[in-house]
Amino acid sequence: MTPIHHKTLVLLDHPDLSTSRINRALATALEDAPDLTVHDLRRLYPDGHIDLAAERAAVEAAENIVLQYPTHWYAPPAFLKTWLDEVLVRGWAYGTGAPGALAGKTLRVATSTGGAGEAYSPDGFHGWDYNDILIPLQATARRLGMQWLSPFIVHGVRDLTDEQLQDRAQDYRNLLLLRTVPEHV
Ligand SMILES: Cc1cc2nc3c(=O)[nH]c(=O)nc-3n(C[C@H](O)[C@H](O)[C@H](O)COP(=O)(O)O)c2cc1C
Repeated sequence: MTPIHHKTLVLLDHPDLSTSRINRALATALEDAPDLTVHDLRRLYPDGHIDLAAERAAVEAAENIVLQYPTHWYAPPAFLKTWLDEVLVRGWAYGTGAPGALAGKTLRVATSTGGAGEAYSPDGFHGWDYNDILIPLQATARRLGMQWLSPFIVHGVRDLTDEQLQDRAQDYRNLLLLRTVPEHV
């Protein structure tokens, strides 16, 4: 029997991974993971010029797409937004008269926040549940016909010990290796 591979593409955006504690640890935990590719976007495209054909080919080859980033002003850093704007164009991602290129794939956000988990609630310091803050990306997934998966969030990063961080990074690896099978398959 031919094994079915469910490939995962992680799009990682951090303005300066060399100064990152959390996202670097998460990315390190993914090293050598089978059927999983990490695109460290700012390392791949230091001049800001995204190889659109290469990115679209990588998306087409994957069943699961993960957006990994530190939360900056309640949103992904700017280069990930640029990736979305430039890669997900009409005629490929949508507007083809048929399901778009990402239809049936899964989308998961993996992010870190300075704010504590309990601060992300209507009565909390940040005033919204973190899931509400992700609505624009959830709407994007819906528009593309993708299956939205529950986000992996590391909250309260300043209070996290190195040991706790290693545990969360291992949780992250395990979660992505579950090889979520898109519903239509
Ligand atoms: C420009 C900037 C904006 C930030 N905005 C938020 C925010 O909106 N909410 C929050 O909880 N933390 C915010 N933080 C804290 C970061 O989320 C936190 O430093 C990051 O998740 C740590 O990950 P790293 O070690 O990979 O950089 C912000 C940090 C920076 C530098």
